Amino acid sequence: MASRSLHHTLSSLPFLHQLENPNPRSRSLSPRKTLNLSNAKESERGIEFETGDSFFRRESAISRDLGVLAAALHRRSLSRGPRVLDAMCGCGVRALRYLSQAGAGFVWANDAFDGDRGLILSNLSGESRFSPDGERRWIVTHLDANRVLAESYLQKEFFDIVDVDSFGSDSSFLRSSMMALKKGGLLYATSTDGYSSGGHRPHHSLASYGAYVRPMPYSNELGLRLLIGGALREASVLGFHISPLFSYYSYHGPVFRVMFKIDRGVLHVKNHYAMEGYLDQCPDSYHKIVSHSLVVSGPLWTGPLHNANYLTGMLKLAEEWGWAYTKQNGIDLQKLLNQMIDESNPLLPFGYIKLDEVASRAKINSPPLATMISALQKEGYAASSIVRCMQEGQEGPPAFLDLEMLQGQSQD
Ligand SMILES: C[S@@+](CC[C@H](N)C(=O)[O-])C[C@H]1O[C@@H](n2cnc3c(N)ncnc32)[C@H](O)[C@@H]1O
Repeated sequence: MASRSLHHTLSSLPFLHQLENPNPRSRSLSPRKTLNLSNAKESERGIEFETGDSFFRRESAISRDLGVLAAALHRRSLSRGPRVLDAMCGCGVRALRYLSQAGAGFVWANDAFDGDRGLILSNLSGESRFSPDGERRWIVTHLDANRVLAESYLQKEFFDIVDVDSFGSDSSFLRSSMMALKKGGLLYATSTDGYSSGGHRPHHSLASYGAYVRPMPYSNELGLRLLIGGALREASVLGFHISPLFSYYSYHGPVFRVMFKIDRGVLHVKNHYAMEGYLDQCPDSYHKIVSHSLVVSGPLWTGPLHNANYLTGMLKLAEEWGWAYTKQNGIDLQKLLNQMIDESNPLLPFGYIKLDEVASRAKINSPPLATMISALQKEGYAASSIVRCMQEGQEGPPAFLDLEMLQGQSQD
């Protein structure tokens, strides 16, 4: 029975043999950083796993929560277990969580480094390899992610979800991931290039994401808009349409993550893809004033960073699962999702203003953020606190996290 099942299920991956890596140990494609050398058991939302000497960051747990919630919501819309590629799986924690928490039907766990094979297999061993129908539920490979993606596309073995937890600003995975996705599929993309978002490597950001970025005060937001703009550019080449379901900045790294929905058809980006300016020397003005001291960056995504409907679905799911009011590394998931929902307002512009700065120019003490936001809203402005500068590990209510931040735009 087992061998029949194995034959049957491997035949649904007809090109797997072509992907055999003849010399996997020579294929460690990125510099390896080892952050966690202990073999201690980790636990995330009740799932236990080991990290060995793989690249693992405990601080990324909240981003894994967000990925699992989005995947579970996608599963509901498909009415079947999604087919997922964890293209850079490290110790395999995402693959494990997609299988056991998001109800994935099949997970391909891949990492170029084959030295972690035993660790990944051991972490996934609690999940049965085959479904009751004899279909393979998971596999582990050690290949360049782009190779898995390109072969999947060529063989028409498309995925519902592709998660690429990459280093730096390697954008070469964006196009191949989109090509390997089914229509309406999800791409969870990552950038960890703080130099580019800080405007310190404009030629690099131009090469990676097609945007010439110069130093601006809101580099955390810039990193997200850079990644979304770069993905938009790749999608347009393919005749696809992308929309960010959520965008999440983490100060450790820094790490910029965006969950995209990919559809066929070109997005009309007239209002969402533009150059952005910042006037850094005029004491009385902030944005969009042409002057010799104007710093211009772009083109960048200037549309909403999140989709409020999708986030509301994720929040409901988090409540159903008992995750909503609990913390991972000091971040309360319910507060985070609610803040992201507020921040999804499409009227909110690029950038933000420090509340302290407004108060200092007005020569008054800073009012409480909530009071200021509500007063602005009553006056007909769109205003929100922001999560894109939130720091993990910070305690206290969210108002303190973003106390000095404010963004708003007249609705007239
Ligand atoms: C940030 S770590 C992954 C962490 C993991 N996803 C998690 O959530 O704990 C990135 C991983 O990508 C692997 N890697 C780097 N370049 C790769 C490539 N071109 N193809 C596949 N894997 C790669 C590294 O070996 C490393 O384990």
